[in-house]
Amino acid sequence: MRVRQISPSDTYLIRQQVLRPGRDISTCYFKDDERDQTLHLGAFIDKKLVSVASFYFNKSSSFESIGQYQLRGMATLPDFRGQGYSSELLKFGFPLIKRNFCDLVWCNARVSAIDFYKKVGFDSIGDTFDIQDVGPHQLMYKKIN
Ligand SMILES: CC(C)(COP(=O)(O)OP(=O)(O)OC[C@H]1O[C@@H](n2cnc3c(N)ncnc32)[C@H](O)[C@@H]1OP(=O)(O)O)[C@@H](O)C(=O)NCCC(=O)NCCS
Repeated sequence: MRVRQISPSDTYLIRQQVLRPGRDISTCYFKDDERDQTLHLGAFIDKKLVSVASFYFNKSSSFESIGQYQLRGMATLPDFRGQGYSSELLKFGFPLIKRNFCDLVWCNARVSAIDFYKKVGFDSIGDTFDIQDVGPHQLMYKKIN
């Protein structure tokens, strides 16, 4: 498996298949995808892209740190789950965003993915809340030291 930086458009098909099944591809274009500070990572097996993750320089009012990145669009193709690909993307990404003066990563985790985020060192904060058309979520964060 190899992890590489990828372009926003490389993420869209996996986002659609995993995160927005049956919905238009345009629902997979996220705000700030094209921004310079945004980092998109992909895990490849041979030449096949199997897992994606994106980091956005975006502050949540729930945290005081000024060096915050938001993690979004975490998705691994079903046949490749539970084999460490998302964890590898995070391990690759944390030092890169840290170099960009980030000391805290947060995400709106799907409730079904909370245990994944706990395993990679995130903590929960606050109550669950609903994101329209997607479902219940939990704000989670991890300090990057
Ligand atoms: C959540 C997701 C991105 C994790 O990807 P992955 O490549 O399977 O993750 P990893 O293999 O690195 O998992 C690391 C650990 O978390 C566990 N894990 C992964 N997804 C999990 C989940 N949804 N619930 C509980 N544990 C999970 C793995 O089994 C593994 O455990 P281990 O260290 O004991 O072996 C993937 O399951 C997915 O695409 N889910 C559907 C989309 C989704 O929910 N995305 C997150 C939106 S917030």
